[in-house]
Amino acid sequence: MNLFNVYPLFDVTPVRAKDVYVYDNGGTEYLDLYGGHAVISIGHSHPAYVKNMSDQLSKLGFYSNSVQNPLQIALAKELALQSNCVDYQLFLCNSGAEANENALKLASFYTNKKKVIAFTNSFHGRTSATVAATDNTKIVAPVNAQHEVDFFNLGDLASVETALQKGDVCAVIIECIQGVGGLDENTTDFYKGLELLCAKYDAVFIVDEVQSGFGRTGEFFAFQKHKITPHIISMAKGMGNGFPVGGILIHPKIKASYGVLGTTFGGNHLACVACSTVLKVLKEEKLMQNATAMAAYFIAKAAEIPKIVKVKGRGLMLGLVFDFPVSTLRKNLLYTHHIFTGSAKNPNILRILPPLTVKKQHIDQFFKALKKEVG
Ligand SMILES: Cc1ncc(COP(=O)(O)O)c(C=O)c1O
Repeated sequence: MNLFNVYPLFDVTPVRAKDVYVYDNGGTEYLDLYGGHAVISIGHSHPAYVKNMSDQLSKLGFYSNSVQNPLQIALAKELALQSNCVDYQLFLCNSGAEANENALKLASFYTNKKKVIAFTNSFHGRTSATVAATDNTKIVAPVNAQHEVDFFNLGDLASVETALQKGDVCAVIIECIQGVGGLDENTTDFYKGLELLCAKYDAVFIVDEVQSGFGRTGEFFAFQKHKITPHIISMAKGMGNGFPVGGILIHPKIKASYGVLGTTFGGNHLACVACSTVLKVLKEEKLMQNATAMAAYFIAKAAEIPKIVKVKGRGLMLGLVFDFPVSTLRKNLLYTHHIFTGSAKNPNILRILPPLTVKKQHIDQFFKALKKEVG
């Protein structure tokens, strides 16, 4: 049977990994500054993660959401404490797209409206409504295009208000720091303005923290820098350190009722242990503080490279903007220097999304290689 060929693949076959390093089938060591697409938060095969997951698997890997699961309750309690989103309610699912799909669905149920407002260069996933709210027509099929979505530029509050005035918008969805779109972040006034407009016109304010959440930016959620209160916060990626877990945090004003959301696999026992272990290690190893400190170190080193015209993003969610397209550079970093990095919609951006355990020595290793490539 052939695989359905949807991914252009690098010619590397990882077979094991440890912390910030990945090893291929020939034993070559790679520095992972990509984190499997911002997924690895506490480091590959962290000992506590391996132990807790193995212990849980030997007891009970899965049961459905039709029975009591104290692991979900313990997870919600710890998540409330660490995220400081104490009044929110937790719904667990399996991926980032699913988190956003549930967020949009809930917004539509809650407001009984169906239009969505999203932003230029957004990415929210590949499922039905999320791909429609993603600013990339190439990945939107006709079945997705039925969703009513208006796109506006970041910062354009006036156009958002004009759209909201029509009274048919259920949700405004935004990544506070864009991921693949190119690491753009707008002003606090803009995010606060969106919050106020959503309140004024009865729309649900959804913040997509799928990539930026769980400590990646040095704060638990990226939106917290702007002191806003979203109605729904979507999460995934770093949440499970590689185990597929997603979820939404739901403001107390949105009440639950049986059947509005549901999932077979979401919140299963292994997923809960993965996420609870991530939270424990984030706290014990002070990884959010590390993200902030390593970002400062990274940005200072980047300033020494004339070909880097700008560094975008925050914490360990960074984009290095070069004055040329980076696809060859990225390949050279991988095949010559054995360093994984990421790309963005803007071909001149190299994305840096390492595990939050990354240290100065790893950043030095990257810049040594980069200097050899670009001077
Ligand atoms: C901001 C953002 N939202 C949603 C998604 C979709 O997540 P998933 O691939 O887990 O469905 C991604 C994935 O890259 C993302 O970066």
